[in-house]
Amino acid sequence: MNDKEKWDNWAKTRTDTEAVMMASSLIRKYRDYIEKKVLLPIFKKYINKNDIVLEMGCGNGRWIKRLEENGIKKLIGIDFSKELIRQAKSKCKATFFISNSYGLCLSNSKFDNTVLLQVIPHNNIKKLRVALNEACRVTKINGKIILMDEFVENDIEDVKKIMLKNNFKLVKIKPVRSEWLSRLITSLRKQFDKSYKESSTISTKNTWKHFIKVILEAPIDLLLLNILLKKLSLESVLVFNGR
Ligand SMILES: C[S@@+](CC[C@H](N)C(=O)[O-])C[C@H]1O[C@@H](n2cnc3c(N)ncnc32)[C@H](O)[C@@H]1O
Repeated sequence: MNDKEKWDNWAKTRTDTEAVMMASSLIRKYRDYIEKKVLLPIFKKYINKNDIVLEMGCGNGRWIKRLEENGIKKLIGIDFSKELIRQAKSKCKATFFISNSYGLCLSNSKFDNTVLLQVIPHNNIKKLRVALNEACRVTKINGKIILMDEFVENDIEDVKKIMLKNNFKLVKIKPVRSEWLSRLITSLRKQFDKSYKESSTISTKNTWKHFIKVILEAPIDLLLLNILLKKLSLESVLVFNGR
């Protein structure tokens, strides 16, 4: 099964964040919360209300809907999943196309902003280059490209080089989560999930545990994130400016 079929099949029986995040409900809630806290201020700072904005790999329009709610009117979303585009069309006013990021059905220098959230190919430099070249091609010369993904140091260097070749320069890097904090939380989560599975079916106790975990985890992460070494960032938002 190729990636397109994988997303199509996954999304057919799911909606909302579940359709675009292959993760447990706890992780989905948590990620959604953290993403909103980090991304919305960046969008507000770098995207003007009259800008023409493209989201590549828009999924079911989760972020396009949020941009619409924030007053941005000229929005276009593309995704290679027919099912996700169907879901996006049902909830947003924006224009959507089924298209592949490796060969967009869009003309050159059309967009003020191009956004790619959790969509760039990892461990495949050729595909990464093709997708980023396409993003640069369709973005105006003085436009902006905003990426959010899980990067390690080399990924960021590769991305920066590809973008620079296309005359786009990194102007902002914002960590979404720090690396060691991610690891700590993942290991705590595994322990929690294990005890959750092993425990009896008496659910009141577990529901409370679950509730306390969700309440505590996100604010602590955000607080530490602001204090911690930002260089260790794993998941980050990168903003590139055309020159
Ligand atoms: C993790 S989801 C993120 C969706 C959306 N950006 C969000 O944050 O809600 C990845 C999305 O990228 C899409 N995608 C992956 N590779 C793609 C490609 N080559 N061309 C177009 N869409 C792609 C998938 O169909 C899926 O909707």
